Amino acid sequence: MQKKLVAPSLLASDFANLQRDIEMVNQSEADWFHLDVMDGVFVPNISFGMPVIQAMAKHAKKLLDVHLMIVDPDRYIKTFAEVGANNLSVHYEACTHLHRTLQAIKMEGMKAGVALNPHTSVKLLEDTIADIDLVVLMSVNPGFGGQAFIENTYNKVKDLKNLIEQKNSGALIEIDGGVNAGNAKKLVEAGADILVAGSFVFKSENPTETIKKLKEEIA
Ligand code: DX5
Ligand code: ZN
Repeated sequence: MQKKLVAPSLLASDFANLQRDIEMVNQSEADWFHLDVMDGVFVPNISFGMPVIQAMAKHAKKLLDVHLMIVDPDRYIKTFAEVGANNLSVHYEACTHLHRTLQAIKMEGMKAGVALNPHTSVKLLEDTIADIDLVVLMSVNPGFGGQAFIENTYNKVKDLKNLIEQKNSGALIEIDGGVNAGNAKKLVEAGADILVAGSFVFKSENPTETIKKLKEEIA
């Protein structure tokens, strides 16, 4: 069985102490860095982009899992590969030619991910799931950290898991938004492989311990 992973979202880190927070993740039991790119158009918020990711990549010793919340992501696929992204996830709702976008991501040597908003059915991935490495199920409406987890996500994880098995796909299931020690186990039991956690990790008293606790929950 695929090992269950934890990916802290740096959106909730202290941007004035980014290197310190990256080192914390390096030293912790976390598996990936989850990096949220927002353009103020696809989502009502702006976060950070390529120059910041390039700077992070110099210090990060774990895989960079980049989540693009931007319109027309095709424009920047090559640039994200150049600055060090290992996984690149685009939103289903932002892609007119999703299949072509997935091929372009893979052509640049990255794993291709598709993120689904809470209102987007996993059924829409029926014809692309075989070409997808990672599905990011949004368990909050994208744009902000610190929001409440949407309970319907459990059903979506189960439906997606069935679809993946039915189509013989190797896609992993990542859950993004409102993840904490109270829902982590149930998500993994439903079929999730990777849990993103922002506020729960970085707003806690001891982020290293919080990551450890999350890993224990899903071991
Ligand atoms: C939301 C982002 C998430 C966010 C998660 O738009 O995609 O990755 O940082 O933050 P929490 O864990 O605080 O919900
Ligand atoms: Zn994210």
